[in-house]
Amino acid sequence: MVAIIVHGGAGTIRKEERIPRVMNGVREAVMAGWRELRRGSALDAVEEAVKSLEDNPIFNAGTGSVLTLDGRVEMDAAVMRGKSLEAGAVAGIWGVKNPISVARKVMEKTDHVLLGGEGAIKFARLMGFEEYDPITEERRRQWEELRRKLIEKGEAGHWKKLNELIKEYPEVLRSTVGAVAFDGEEVVAGTSTGGVFLKMFGRIGDTPLIGAGTYADEFAGASATGIGEVMIRLVLAKSAADFVHLGLDAPRASEAAIGLATKYFGENVAGIIMIDRNGNVGFAKNTKHMSVAYMKDGMPEPYTGI
Ligand code: GLY
Repeated sequence: MVAIIVHGGAGTIRKEERIPRVMNGVREAVMAGWRELRRGSALDAVEEAVKSLEDNPIFNAGTGSVLTLDGRVEMDAAVMRGKSLEAGAVAGIWGVKNPISVARKVMEKTDHVLLGGEGAIKFARLMGFEEYDPITEERRRQWEELRRKLIEKGEAGHWKKLNELIKEYPEVLRSTVGAVAFDGEEVVAGTSTGGVFLKMFGRIGDTPLIGAGTYADEFAGASATGIGEVMIRLVLAKSAADFVHLGLDAPRASEAAIGLATKYFGENVAGIIMIDRNGNVGFAKNTKHMSVAYMKDGMPEPYTGI
């Protein structure tokens, strides 16, 4: 049994006309991953699927990442192998096209798990990743509009205020992409994000923190999306894998993990995708939308949903 699932972020998509583009994006990504998975490697499948999502400007990761309060891009990404517990991650990186591939290089070429900021960029250049500007015109326009609203309301720059803003403008929270794949041997999970609009410079979310936004072990793999501070506090991706260790399958473990997020932080904060070591696929959210697509042995076409 082999399987792959991807997500394009949890939140609310206010503009209905964006939904077909989002659904096409997750479908393309799951098929890109599926082609690699058929060649045998969950790791290659996760990297390809996440790269496809990073390269699609509709998603908040890689090209099309959201902008920080001061108008820059600071991206986070991580990848983890379930069998060996090897992991690699980058935080607050800019000037590269595919943070997930840099995260994989951290895993494969260094003794470390997480590189941040200037150091991560220096490492990326050493590894041959070329200079690239991931800021799109659309994101720049959204940033200008949101920043103007913050400034006009005198609410600039504090997370408490930003959370209020997110309630008023839930489209701000259209964050993060991820993939989890099982190749019959191991589960691999990967996640990539531009973070949350108008985040403080230097803010690091859950995505690159192993156990918070990204996790894989011998039981399951998980990639989370939503308000990173929630996942960090609940170590949500690891909690989800622990639910599998305790006997739940991936669908039930996903629900249990999101149940935890709702219990402590309320609705509209989180989503998660998972695969367990039996190849069961699970996903859950407490937001209005979370675009997902998955493929398993025996399926002629991917499942897609939002
Ligand atoms: N979940 C993505 C972030 O909060 O950065």
